[in-house]
Amino acid sequence: MGAETVQSATPDWTPEMSVGNDTLDSDHKAFFDIARLLYDSLSAKQDQGMIITSTLMILEEYVDGHFLREEKALKAVGYTQLAEHHHKHRKFQARVRAISETYQSGTKSAADDLPNLVIQWLTHHILNEDMQYKRWIRDSAVDPRPLAFLAVEAAG
Ligand SMILES: [Fe+2]
Ligand SMILES: [Fe+2]
Repeated sequence: MGAETVQSATPDWTPEMSVGNDTLDSDHKAFFDIARLLYDSLSAKQDQGMIITSTLMILEEYVDGHFLREEKALKAVGYTQLAEHHHKHRKFQARVRAISETYQSGTKSAADDLPNLVIQWLTHHILNEDMQYKRWIRDSAVDPRPLAFLAVEAAG
């Protein structure tokens, strides 16, 4: 039995989710990888506390950085539904942050549904919201730098 027959516990990014820009697609793919890592560490038999904590930090970094990247690009192309899109990002960002903080403060079960939430929200958001900017986006409008650069710029 080859590795290709093994069913993954969490779904993958699929080509129909492409928003037409490689950097934004890479961010979206990374979310699926982070959700998988989180799922695997949460369902491991041994205590994976350190890995879970660092994965939550990576997830928050991606949520913050990807949303900044996307909003910066949408502003640059004059996307007319940016305010609504921005609001949906902020709501999800607050949910992830609240779950992460509850986990860090000792309620470990708070993170149990997080991989599923990330996958469900992201799949729905990409296919229904991000897809609407596909015809607006231009490669020259997307800042391709690593996420940390965007966060530093936003903080400064
Ligand atoms: Fe996105
Ligand atoms: Fe978005």
